[in-house]
Amino acid sequence: MIKNKPIYILGIESSCDDTSASVICNGKILSNVVANQEIHTKYGGVVPELASRAHQQNIVPVIQQAIHQANIDKKDLNAIAFTRGPGLMGSLLVGTSFAKSLSLALDIPLIAVNHMQGHVLAHFIEDENHKKPPFPFLCLTISGGHTQIVKISSHFKMEVLGETLDDAVGEAYDKSAKILGLPYPGGPLVDKYARLGNPKAFKFTKPRVDGLNFSFSGLKTGILYFIQKQVKENPNFIEENLNDVCASIQYTIVEILFDKLKLAVKQTGIKHIAIAGGVSANSEIRKVLKESEAKLGWTTYIPKFEYTTDNAGMIAIVGYLKYLEEDFSKETISATARLKVSES
Ligand code: KG4
Ligand code: ZN
Repeated sequence: MIKNKPIYILGIESSCDDTSASVICNGKILSNVVANQEIHTKYGGVVPELASRAHQQNIVPVIQQAIHQANIDKKDLNAIAFTRGPGLMGSLLVGTSFAKSLSLALDIPLIAVNHMQGHVLAHFIEDENHKKPPFPFLCLTISGGHTQIVKISSHFKMEVLGETLDDAVGEAYDKSAKILGLPYPGGPLVDKYARLGNPKAFKFTKPRVDGLNFSFSGLKTGILYFIQKQVKENPNFIEENLNDVCASIQYTIVEILFDKLKLAVKQTGIKHIAIAGGVSANSEIRKVLKESEAKLGWTTYIPKFEYTTDNAGMIAIVGYLKYLEEDFSKETISATARLKVSES
């Protein structure tokens, strides 16, 4: 174990449509630069080919900025951590190839990171305003590609207790937003309008799924049919009811998530509950989770806003934890589009 000397790790994230680089020193974030790709907005979703091209353009300036903001020289770096997967292959390849080249050039270790472990382990970033969850804890991991309840027994021992059988919750948000004519990614916009609306204005059917698994595709179809019917009767329905529709959709989604989370607590007896992933930026999910402390006796862990959606800070912290264990990757390691949260 290496102690008492500064360990600088560069984290690189390029799994989807955000190019990000972060420098972490002994678990503390010194910089976390994210370049969002605006190009996808007009297509209503991420176009993989365009995403990899944008990563190619952004990666060098983003890394340079992260090193500059951290006020270090690249020669000070001790290792390069990068997202190996899961994600879009073309996007992952840009970060993976760059990380390999830089580790070769600087002659320092290369550390492969599982993106989903990054979302969860962002809770271990050193920050005086954030308490770290004790093991074991449950994490509701909610993003554009995943919806899982994960039991975390140690930094790298993660077990999926339940997950979505079809769409991820982020997709449910984004597709609902698209039906309402909102641009991609619609999740934050649904959240914004929902705050102004009545959550009980419209009722959407919750799916019936056994155990701790989820399903969101039926909800999306239900919303689509509902909106089509209403717009037929009143072409201005969406404009006139946007806040109430968003609030009702959000209410249903939050209920689906918390019904399962409560069941997971009942089944495991674990009451330390964290949330992670892009959708954990959602104001209602954060609020309801916080309320569960008084209502249900849970201890909750809500990530800082900047560590919810894709960012390299979460990759850098995993890099640091792996560095301490000298868990380095071979130079022949390859990116992989599919990777379970339990796999390193
Ligand atoms: O983790 P993330 O940045 O990327 C993936 O790994 O997928 O998550 C992106 C997802 C998108 O679906 C986006 O709409 C959703 O997170 N999202 C939100 C909010 N902020 C981001 N969904 C609901 N409310 C939000 N405030
Ligand atoms: Zn993500």
